[in-house]
Amino acid sequence: MNIVLLGSPGVGKGTYAKRISKIYNIPHISTGDMFREAIKNKTEIGLKAKGYMDKGELVPDDVTIKTVEERLKKDDCKNGFMLDGFPRTIAQAEALDKIIVIDKVLNFTASDEVIIDRLSGRRVCKSCGAIFHIRNIIPKTEGVCDNCGGELYQRDDDKPESVKKRLDVYREQTEPLIEYYKEKELLADIDANKPIEQVDEIIADVRKALEE
Ligand code: AP5
Repeated sequence: MNIVLLGSPGVGKGTYAKRISKIYNIPHISTGDMFREAIKNKTEIGLKAKGYMDKGELVPDDVTIKTVEERLKKDDCKNGFMLDGFPRTIAQAEALDKIIVIDKVLNFTASDEVIIDRLSGRRVCKSCGAIFHIRNIIPKTEGVCDNCGGELYQRDDDKPESVKKRLDVYREQTEPLIEYYKEKELLADIDANKPIEQVDEIIADVRKALEE
C-alpha cells in the first residue's frame, strides 16, 4: 500500500509513522529526516536544504521532488511505502502523481494549542531518531534516549521563531492538499488530539481507514 501522511508540523506524524511502518512492514520515508541526515553528512542536498529549514521555510520543490523520486526507486518500496512530510505543495503532489499511484492519504488533525505544546517540548535522539517530549513522553533519564542511550536534542526549527513560520507555511502551502486529495477521494481524517496514553486508539483509527 502506498500511503501519504498529511498534517501540521508537530501533529505527531513521525511518532505514528514509526508504529504504522512496523504493522504494515513498509518503509517510513520522511523528507525531513532525509534532509537532516544530508545536513549531518554535509552533502550537496544538505547544504542546499539547511538555510531553508533553519528559517522554517520549505526546501525548493525541484530538490525535494528529485530526492523523493530517487528514494522511491529503492527495492524496499516495491510492496508499498509511507511518505511523511511529502508532498507539501500542490506542485509536489502533481509530480508524485506522475511517478506513482497513491492508495490512501491520512490527514492527522489537532488544535493549534496541542500542536504548539508538542513542538515546544519535543526532544529527538541524535543517534536513533527516537522522539520524546519533555512533558508527554518523558525519557527515563533526562536528556538520554531510552532506546539506545544517545543524546536527546531540540531541533533548531522547534525554537519559537521557526515554529511560527512553519505553521504559517503549512497553512499557505500544504493545507490546500487536503482539498486536492479529498477531490481524488483518497483522504481519511484522523483525530490526533488524543494524548499519548491513547495512541493505540489513534493507530486503531489509522488501521480502520487503511483497511476499509
Ligand atoms: P519535517 O521533519 O517533516 O517536520 P514537520 O512536518 O514540521 O513535522 P514534525 O517532524 O515537526 O512533526 P511530526 O508531525 O512528525 O510530529 P512528531 O511525531 O515529531 O520537516 C522539517 C523541515 O524540512 C521543513 O520545515 C522543511 O524546511 C523541510 N522539508 C521537509 N519535507 C519537505 C518537503 N516535502 N518540501 C519542502 N521542504 C521540506 O511529534 C511532535 C511531538 O509531539 C513529539 O515530542 C512527540 O513525542 C509528541 N507527540 C506525538 N503524538 C503525541 C500525542 N498523541 N500526545 C502527546 N504528545 C505527542
